[in-house]
Amino acid sequence: MRVGGRDTHAAWWSDDGVHYLDQRTIPATVTVGVARTVEDVAQAIEDMAVRGAPLIGVVAAYGLALAARRGDDLEVAFQRLLRTRPTAINLLRGLEAVRAVAPDPARMLEAARAHDRAEVAAAEAIGEHGLALLRCGSRVMTHCNAGWLAVQDWGTALAPIYRAARAGLAPFVYVSETRPRLQGARLTAWELGQEGIDHALIADGAAAHLLQRGQVDLVITGADRIARNGDAANKVGTYAKALAAKAHGIPFYIAAPLTTVDRATPTGADIPIEERSPDELLSAEGLDEAGEVRRVRLAPAGTPALNPAFDVTPHALITALITEVGVVPATGEGIAEAFQRAAGSPEAI
Ligand code: MRU
Repeated sequence: MRVGGRDTHAAWWSDDGVHYLDQRTIPATVTVGVARTVEDVAQAIEDMAVRGAPLIGVVAAYGLALAARRGDDLEVAFQRLLRTRPTAINLLRGLEAVRAVAPDPARMLEAARAHDRAEVAAAEAIGEHGLALLRCGSRVMTHCNAGWLAVQDWGTALAPIYRAARAGLAPFVYVSETRPRLQGARLTAWELGQEGIDHALIADGAAAHLLQRGQVDLVITGADRIARNGDAANKVGTYAKALAAKAHGIPFYIAAPLTTVDRATPTGADIPIEERSPDELLSAEGLDEAGEVRRVRLAPAGTPALNPAFDVTPHALITALITEVGVVPATGEGIAEAFQRAAGSPEAI
């Protein structure tokens, strides 16, 4: 995708380490971070300089390859990287892909690159399959950021929208701001702006109102982990949108690669939900009128706060899953069918 008209990736390998666009500074500035050690990679993921389920899997995969090149203890490195964020299963997928060919550093780097390419290919295919769900001028609501910053080059929820824009279908996107870290306001609005796609930012609390008023044709979000029965964990606030969409007869889709499906997790109740620091709720960062980044307190000092980072949308509220092998029901049968299709394809994961 393009930044200032130039093709850019969200993360990439080079001889001096793992490079990434630092997602904490966008949209104020676009800066490139470099992780040269496993600890650098782990901190970039924990601090959400790098975020989004497929991207953290890709970056962790490069991190393990980095560990091999440096001669680090690979099991210690694997566990350190795995501990960074508990909900997104793609993290484990990326690490496993690289560990499978350990300990040869060259083979591990090639496995990380292959994992990266496979996630990009899956995202591109999600875009093609999801395109069939859009019409000219479709009004799509999304939540958080499931665009190319979260998955190299295409994204998941945004991939059909990018496809539709290129096909001249002029989609319109409602971007919910995504408290507390504002991935919608900061990242999705920025991505869509860079691509020239019409959009409007909405407060998270405005979503049900717009769905009730018939201003939205469909909702598409990403996911961090999909259980075997089709229940899907995604950024907190997704579940509320799915409930409201169901109440008003609006289709609600989850777009995700099969690397996000965890068949070892039976239901959404079994998905670990990351709890992040209350500080993310109690203060906020933004640009002042002089363009300087400022952090300000939002709540009275000492206010107790809870900050679950994800929630689980039960499969009964999900119209279908948009995967790289097609649009399938969000059920155990639909997921089994998707894996069968993937096994039959030469690009199968
Ligand atoms: O906490 P984040 O910003 O990493 O959460 C990201 C999301 O919830 C995304 O919707 C999800 O990872 C899918 S990304 C294609």
